[in-house]
Amino acid sequence: MHIAVQAEMAKHIFANVSLPGIFAAAAVLLLISRIYWELTTGAQRRRLIKENGCKPVKRYPHKGLSGKLFGYDTMKQNFQAAKQGRFHEMARNRNFSHQQHTIQIRNLNRDFIITIEPENVKAVLSTKFNDFSLGNLRTLTMEPVFGNGIFTSDGKSWEHSRAMIRPSFTRQQVGDLSTYEHHFQNMVAHIPKDGQTVDLQELFFRLTMDSATEFLFGKSTNTLVKGQENPGALRFTDAFTYVTERMALDFRTARLSRFLPDQKRKDDSEFIRNFAQEIVDEALANQKDIEKGAEQEKRSYTFLYELLKVTNDPYTLRSETLNVLLAGRDTTASLLAHTFHELARRPDVWSKLRAEVEELGGQPPDYETLKSMKYVKWVLNESLRLRPVVPGNTRMAIRDTVLPLGGGPDEKSPIFVPKGTPVTYSVWSMHRRKDFFGDDALEFKPERWEKLRPGWEYLPFNGGPRICIGKSSSLVRTRSGIRRSNEPVLLALC
Ligand code: HEM
Repeated sequence: MHIAVQAEMAKHIFANVSLPGIFAAAAVLLLISRIYWELTTGAQRRRLIKENGCKPVKRYPHKGLSGKLFGYDTMKQNFQAAKQGRFHEMARNRNFSHQQHTIQIRNLNRDFIITIEPENVKAVLSTKFNDFSLGNLRTLTMEPVFGNGIFTSDGKSWEHSRAMIRPSFTRQQVGDLSTYEHHFQNMVAHIPKDGQTVDLQELFFRLTMDSATEFLFGKSTNTLVKGQENPGALRFTDAFTYVTERMALDFRTARLSRFLPDQKRKDDSEFIRNFAQEIVDEALANQKDIEKGAEQEKRSYTFLYELLKVTNDPYTLRSETLNVLLAGRDTTASLLAHTFHELARRPDVWSKLRAEVEELGGQPPDYETLKSMKYVKWVLNESLRLRPVVPGNTRMAIRDTVLPLGGGPDEKSPIFVPKGTPVTYSVWSMHRRKDFFGDDALEFKPERWEKLRPGWEYLPFNGGPRICIGKSSSLVRTRSGIRRSNEPVLLALC
């Protein structure tokens, strides 16, 4: 039909339809769709609520219209506290100070459920694993740099990634501590012997970068060895830090921060991709030697070479190596930094730790010895309790579902979680619950681990099918059933 004829028809229609008529038609359409929704989705939801005895979850008492509609009041508090590095403590006091463990809070256009109830966390991560996904915030934020790998994917794609890289994390592969010894010695060389102050945090980040890149790529960034840095290594480390910090801002602002002009982020992202891609391409070029084992014989265990046995797709190889680097580097460095922050203030803990280490008589421990060092383990467990390096996490309901606790005035009834609702669990706040860890829960007390056998209330490595892959897969019996052990075996990597 000619454009002129179409325009004429439209003119005719609009000439005969009045504005109130349009509104009336729209209202009827809305009413029909609402009735349809009530008869289908609404009815299913009411049935689910009734069958499970769900009761309403407490709502956060937002202030003012902007608070009620968009959570402006709490978002403002979040930003101010994050600026001062006090977000988790502020959120704990704000959300959970009145003996409540599950609340609903408004954030922009969504209601979030926030919980520190271990039974709810267990449902989200394990027993109702298939009702939840990571949500697209993580994928959208990270995929441009880190590609599609285990840490950024969901569903079948995640299952595939996990199955592909799991064999690289056996006791045999990661238990060889000697591989990491020289990186550790490189770090020690940077610590002044004359009692000068030193920034250990910076050194820990370089240490985990050097050891992780050796494990993953077979080539260390060697940032701790002056004069031996891999070309671009320092730039890679800096770029990695900058880009991941920007990503953290994206998470806090629901990706609004991506509209800020940021050339450095673009350049650094490209640098990271190219840096990893060059190593992958070189490995692909040497694939024949690698298959014959010739390359591997020259080096210790290399994650990338193991992956080459199952895929030679350059994008997959780059994505998976960068994903594991992302998951393993900052976490381990943060644990070390938090632990030494505490040790520097606690000579009593330091001397007990030292006494246990001195029993080694100056010999570096092997994997089995490390596992048997009771006080070392207590200190690390306590550090991860009070300063969990992944202090909070969110999953998104991908279908209507139910969580076991949080409903009604006593929070003992199940709650209904509509599809599309983000459920955030705060490991930081859960680890500080006095009903689980005692009245001294806020104190750093490694000795508590002599008797403590926590279940889902202690969760530094996550639980369920997406449990940290850098952990032992041995099964242990806990109060809440059978679960994977919380032993930080991959700390061997640092
Ligand atoms: C103190 C050290 C570590 C802590 C506390 C830790 C903690 C965690 C946590 C809480 C998660 C779950 C994240 C989520 O699902 O949102 C996770 C996942 C993961 N971690 Fe670790 N991690 C540590 C070290 C490592 C190391 C050294 C590696 C590997 C070199 C590693 C590899 C991974 C991977 C690949 C995942 C994703 C697993 C999946 O989604 O299936 N982690 N880690």
